[in-house]
Amino acid sequence: MAELYPVSPEWEKRAFVDAADYEKTYERSIKDPDGFWGEIGKRLDWIRPFTKVKNTSFAPGKVSIKWYEDGTLNVSANCVDRHLIKRSNQIAIIFEPDDPKARARKITYRELHEEVGRFANVLKAQGVKKGDRVTIYMPMVPEAAYAMLACTRIGAVHSVVFGGFSPDSIAGRIEDCKSEFVITADEGVRGGRKIPLKANIDAALEKCAGVKSVIVVRHVGADVPMKSGRDHWYDEASKGVPTECKPEEMSAEDPLFILYTSGSTGKPKGVLHTTGGYLVYASYTHQLAFDYHDGDIYWCTADVGWVTGHSYVLYGPLANGATTLMFEGVPNYPTTSRFWEVVDKHQVNIFYTAPTAIRALMGAGDEPVKQTSRASLKLLATVGEPINPEAWEWYWRVVGDSRCPVIDTWWQTETGGHMIMPLPGAIPQKPGSATKPFFGVKPELVDAEGKTIEGAGAGNLVITDSWPGQMRTVYGDHARFMETYFSTYPNKYFTGDGCRRDEDGYYWITGRVDDVLNVSGHRLGTAEVESALVSHPKVSEAAVVGYPHNIKGQGIYAYVTLMAGETGDDALRKELVQWVRKEIGPIASPDMIQFAPGLPKTRSGKIMRRILRKIAEDDFSNLGDTSTLADPTVVTDLVDNRQNRQ
Ligand code: WTA
Repeated sequence: MAELYPVSPEWEKRAFVDAADYEKTYERSIKDPDGFWGEIGKRLDWIRPFTKVKNTSFAPGKVSIKWYEDGTLNVSANCVDRHLIKRSNQIAIIFEPDDPKARARKITYRELHEEVGRFANVLKAQGVKKGDRVTIYMPMVPEAAYAMLACTRIGAVHSVVFGGFSPDSIAGRIEDCKSEFVITADEGVRGGRKIPLKANIDAALEKCAGVKSVIVVRHVGADVPMKSGRDHWYDEASKGVPTECKPEEMSAEDPLFILYTSGSTGKPKGVLHTTGGYLVYASYTHQLAFDYHDGDIYWCTADVGWVTGHSYVLYGPLANGATTLMFEGVPNYPTTSRFWEVVDKHQVNIFYTAPTAIRALMGAGDEPVKQTSRASLKLLATVGEPINPEAWEWYWRVVGDSRCPVIDTWWQTETGGHMIMPLPGAIPQKPGSATKPFFGVKPELVDAEGKTIEGAGAGNLVITDSWPGQMRTVYGDHARFMETYFSTYPNKYFTGDGCRRDEDGYYWITGRVDDVLNVSGHRLGTAEVESALVSHPKVSEAAVVGYPHNIKGQGIYAYVTLMAGETGDDALRKELVQWVRKEIGPIASPDMIQFAPGLPKTRSGKIMRRILRKIAEDDFSNLGDTSTLADPTVVTDLVDNRQNRQ
């Protein structure tokens, strides 16, 4: 029996939602989604109020998702302008730089309004129009937020690419959404190390055509080459530019942003989110999951290059008039006390990070935490991967001094916002469980045949009805959207995750059941890493699987077959790791490479990943039936080589 961490009386009192409210509201949200989401939709400022709420279908071949479809609004007006009456002098963004000795910046809502308006006018002057796609490749600095909000102000669709992705990955994303505009910075700094952002953009643009304009924010003052006619320094382009820019009236279903994410096959997909439903959902979940009250200082450590950075660094908090902290650095620089020093420095009340960071810091012991006060903390939260109970317990006891609820939030790029999590005033926590569905979310477990599993049990996690934050399509490929998410189990959204439900109705996510890896909370497709490996001239074939890794959650294990005549040694291993870093980015670096003369395949040529996973996990006893393999001796070789750690 998992230990239960009850809701304290103080939390029951303080929270927006207590246990009785949760039951009542959940039931209502499921019985009457139109009535429920119609009321919740009013939390935004609409230019033309919606009269329709939900218009969605998961029907095979006809998947269509629309929320608030006849309403119009502007996201930047909701995140900035509407707060000016009450909060113009309140801090909207606290910026904590990588170097603790550098000056932190505090941007009020009034300043944010000016910065966003100015940035929007610069974009307009570059020719950016409503509906245009703008690629953003930025460090974690306030200018990234200005750039994103400026896009929403004029109705441009941003596609933020994480600063750790390589030129090849950037080029692929620019091409896929036919983006003609790029916003970047000279360089980034993380953990004292420079990231050559502009140089990466230059290299990407060698590989793809069509980009007309690159706006470069001067961040570290690096001397970077500028291509005349194409590249523009933001500080020069914005000189004397007015700060007033009228927000574009957008329809609720107009595209808001594209965010590329990995699936089990092919290239990363452009997940498309739209304007109204996304913002309703991001702001509502932000308020309730973190029990955000006016005046709270809120810090989510995610990078804006990931969905968590979109929904819970920027859009959710700002729509709620919150103070949100943007951190440029990493948890262990200059020391492993950094997170907690930042908490003390800015008196952070709500802290949201990934299990991988918690595990890494736990490895450094209690002392770096205990040196700090953390008295300001009220609530701790996690996202990105299953949190192991030991890490949960450490987070609760050491970081939170056994007084802050730990909110484990399960969700995905595709879901736009939290789907399963313990509302802090309502749901007792169990370490390792994301607990209960949020309002309006209908999770179900199904077996391999699609049969619904009732009560306690385990299966694949599906969601049987739409919620406002749901992605609307794969950009430019609705057929792929339907195929990826709605074809496995007709009329249901398939999450790709396995899950267990216990006797109390608590959900325990067990990890991906498809060929998606989760490395330090970052999603990667095995197919992407394989295709990077086989593009190396010495590699003939590659198969990639995940294996349990103490800090990263999952590590990347690559089986590589070389071209005839090549020999695998440590030098080649290093070369291949470098190759993958260059092709995709450092997050995709294989942790282990095993050279394999052959891979286990069925007679029809399909690689048996199940076997490869077992070998990577050192679980040789349980390889299952290998008799259907084209050449069963391959497996013996793989096991021998693995045991000799070749
Ligand atoms: C995993 C990140 C367990 C899951 C917001 C999901 C989690 C994938 C949790 C989405 C959690 C995310 N517990 N697993 N609390 N949160 N995941 O799109 O496998 O980067 O499908 O979105 O991360 O990753 P993505």
